[in-house]
Amino acid sequence: MPNQLTSSSGHSHTFDPKADPNSVVFVGDGEPHTPEATIARLSKLLKQGKLIPDHYSLGGSVADLESRMADELGKEAAIWMPTGTMANIIGLRKHCGINARVVLQEQSHIYQDEGDALSRLCSINAVPLALNRPHFTVDELKESFKASTTGRVLNPVGAVSVESPVRRQAGQVVPWDDMVAVTELCRKEGIPVHLDGARLYMMSAVTGISVRKYASMFDSVYVSSYKYFGAPFGGVLAGKAEFVDGLFNDRRMFGGGIPFGYLAAGLSLEGIDDFEVKFDKSLAKAKNLFEGLDEISGIYVRKFKNGSNIFELQLDDSIDAEKFTESLLQASIVLNWPSSEWPRPLLHVNSSILRLPNSEIIQAFSDAYQRSRKDVS
Ligand SMILES: Cc1ncc(COP(=O)(O)O)c(C=O)c1O
Repeated sequence: MPNQLTSSSGHSHTFDPKADPNSVVFVGDGEPHTPEATIARLSKLLKQGKLIPDHYSLGGSVADLESRMADELGKEAAIWMPTGTMANIIGLRKHCGINARVVLQEQSHIYQDEGDALSRLCSINAVPLALNRPHFTVDELKESFKASTTGRVLNPVGAVSVESPVRRQAGQVVPWDDMVAVTELCRKEGIPVHLDGARLYMMSAVTGISVRKYASMFDSVYVSSYKYFGAPFGGVLAGKAEFVDGLFNDRRMFGGGIPFGYLAAGLSLEGIDDFEVKFDKSLAKAKNLFEGLDEISGIYVRKFKNGSNIFELQLDDSIDAEKFTESLLQASIVLNWPSSEWPRPLLHVNSSILRLPNSEIIQAFSDAYQRSRKDVS
């Protein structure tokens, strides 16, 4: 979204406000990646001897990241994947063996955003539950299991996948009790259950339930490395040693045996170190900020009952979206509105919120509201 603006560094030229290191960016889960910041971090890691080359994603910093993540998640092993899409697909494919069904949320990334890869690349049929809702219930899952074993042809479910937080549902999380009930049923039925936990660390920071405790309920877990750990791409798939064993062959078969994965893995390792403290601080600041925004007449920030780092900004119909976002941009605040995926503007909290004092952000929202009212010329 390049704009002709004066950046807070004083330069007047076309620039992407998201890339301005002084902007508060209410978009995305981590601080926006910029080439400058990435290169500076790589240089620092190189000087510290923390970039150790791999060989086609085997060894070096990639292996360091794998063992660190396995340990944090309380799993026996982990494998780095160049994308989360690949981690989900390869993990579910391994769980399924010769079974042909995966039950998942209709709103999940796997069902909506991975191009039907399960069916097209793996001959697995995705069975979507919970249409337009964040998650399915244990009773819905039971029904789905029953249907798979009582139809004309026995067609057992090979794996269940749970995404949480749910990206397409404004980051709402699957409540703990539902997660326990669903995973217990899977265990009772002997059906492997996978967690698409791209944002698992954020969920944990919000709910106070450790990543290890969440992971313990699942046979496999995927965590993203680039959404909030500052790597340019990639993620990790963790599980039992026998599950992870040999998956590097599948990774290569699917085209993911990246020759220099260590650059991404090294950045990710550093990002894990920084994440918790910064994110907790950001959430606390956001709480205080939203209380301040709620005091502005005409503005209300909705907190989802089972929300994570995403909040809904409620403004009355008199507001011109373009003028509102433009006015915020002038104050170095970035908001994506309108969006094709959610009817109202969403405020994503990430650590860029630490860049401006709350008083300044509140003033900017108040000004933007006044300047963008259609009923006031
Ligand atoms: C919940 C979830 N799962 C998986 C992915 C896929 O990750 P990648 O972009 O690395 O393929 C994403 C990416 O947006 C996601 O939000």
